[in-house]
Amino acid sequence: MNKINFSLIALILALNACHSAADEISARTKAAQDKANSAEKSGPDGGAIFRQNCITCHGADGKLGLSGAKDLSVSELPLDSRIQIITNGKNLMTPFKALLDEAEIKAVAEYTLTLRDQTVK
Ligand code: HEC
Repeated sequence: MNKINFSLIALILALNACHSAADEISARTKAAQDKANSAEKSGPDGGAIFRQNCITCHGADGKLGLSGAKDLSVSELPLDSRIQIITNGKNLMTPFKALLDEAEIKAVAEYTLTLRDQTVK
């Protein structure tokens, strides 16, 4: 009798452990999916794209000016012109149309607008 009870308890414990491990996995999968969905919804990360592709010439704050790069903190260019320049390049600036897709170019162009020095009028 004792032996049967023991193996029953062991079985129940094992089933429980199995169950919660499966729950845990599905909860994690769901969290990962939610994260992926929200990243897709909010689009590409313009700041990350800028840090990967642009700071070599423009600097993290947009002011570096290497190879004659324009100071982005004072640039008055509107969004569509920025998209144009980023896509096709200009003088020493390399075109990015082969490296970034349209949504990424738009996101990074929007990001450059945030580099504008708020004290400059
Ligand atoms: C190889 C160096 C280099 C890299 C890399 C580079 N740029 Fe440029 N960028 C330049 C130069 C040089 C200019 C000025 C072009 C001109 O008008 O002669 C410029 C101009 C610009 C302008 C126009 C500013 C104005 O007021 O005319 C924007 C916007 C810009 N870059 C954004 C970016 C973004 C965003 C990236 C990354 C995706 C990037 N650049 C990467 C060199 C670079």
